[in-house]
Amino acid sequence: MNLQRLQPAERDAAIAILRKNDRGGHTVPTDGLYPFQWSWDSAITALGWMRIDEQRAWAEVDTMFRGQWENGMVPHILFHGESGTYFPGPEVWGSGRALPSSAISQPPVWATTIRIMLETAADRRLAMERVTAVLPKLIAYHEWWYRERDPNGTGLVCSYHPWESGMDNSPAWDEALMNVPPVDYHYERRDLHLVESEQRPTHEQYDRYLYLVDFYKGCGFDSDYIYEHCPYKVLDIGIIAILHRATKDLLALCEAMSHSADTQPLRDALGRTETAIGELWLQEKACFASHDLLTGKVLDDVTTATVLPLFAGLANASQADAMRDLIDGWLNGTAYGLSSTHPDSAKFDPKCYWRGPVWLHINWMIATGLDESGDAGLAARIKSSTHRCISDGGYWEYFDALTGAGCGGDDFSWTAAIALHWLTD
Ligand code: DGY
Repeated sequence: MNLQRLQPAERDAAIAILRKNDRGGHTVPTDGLYPFQWSWDSAITALGWMRIDEQRAWAEVDTMFRGQWENGMVPHILFHGESGTYFPGPEVWGSGRALPSSAISQPPVWATTIRIMLETAADRRLAMERVTAVLPKLIAYHEWWYRERDPNGTGLVCSYHPWESGMDNSPAWDEALMNVPPVDYHYERRDLHLVESEQRPTHEQYDRYLYLVDFYKGCGFDSDYIYEHCPYKVLDIGIIAILHRATKDLLALCEAMSHSADTQPLRDALGRTETAIGELWLQEKACFASHDLLTGKVLDDVTTATVLPLFAGLANASQADAMRDLIDGWLNGTAYGLSSTHPDSAKFDPKCYWRGPVWLHINWMIATGLDESGDAGLAARIKSSTHRCISDGGYWEYFDALTGAGCGGDDFSWTAAIALHWLTD
């Protein structure tokens, strides 16, 4: 079987999942466990819709940006309606908005996926119309990241919550998260009714996730106050890399559309990141690393986030070579690659959420970066071993890196969508 391409039955199954999870204008990641619209899920899912129904793909974009805050932030969750299966819901976040939302963002992959959508659209007129409408919003979103999350112009934006990284319980956040106080009240986790606890974050982690949610609400979402006092402030290499890539894609969109906005501030931001990124290089591990901005500590766990600068074109030639060698050995360590945490790590857990399992969309990003920098062979290895997850296990949220068993939510939208996008080329 050709593991570089989706088989007809796999394609039909992926399409059926997007249709099943379609709530009209937005797609839930999976029924029950995630019953709302998540930002980076939605951006990736739009790529899948592009292969089936372009109108529907653009609706995903429109719906998400309807929830954009006045300051430019695109929240990580938009709560369209009620649900009894998810915690913490809109009342806990307390955003007080007409379209209730969370108060943090997520890896800003939108400009990247929208650029792909524009460049692959069969209906050019529709695509140009939708990109024209969303461009000012995308610019405001990127300006928000650079302004609010890097007010001193260091070139490195920071994250206020492990959920913002999208890689919730990555070992990289352990130390920084344990410096956040726990909440001391009782709450009921609904995820554990749906997924085995060994595949989900711990109660100790949830106690601190919730403290942060209460903290934003308690200060009225005042961005200056949060920057000064948030007990979790991390330079997240995954977000930094994805933002950098997306800003380049945003500039390409502006050029393609002959957009009149002054894009110099975005170019300046790119320049600052390119100057500063070397500070996050970790020679002894042959990859980049996140840093705890509050303690100054290097968060040196080797996770897939640490090689995402390949996707952003942020590595110099010797760094890129070192990361290629690292990835080569990494793929040898698991049957289903690339695992979200390096298998040699003492914290590697092949089935626990972001502590080891395989995630298709991240592997697509890393393979794309390798392909673009001329390493088609390594990119193809990632693609084949990732495809094996779905050919053996179906469209799960993530996959046990050693056995390929499906984990987390089943019939998962971004898994189906990235398969349609990536494994169809
Ligand atoms: C969750 O609820 O598990 C999410 O990752 C938070 O966005």
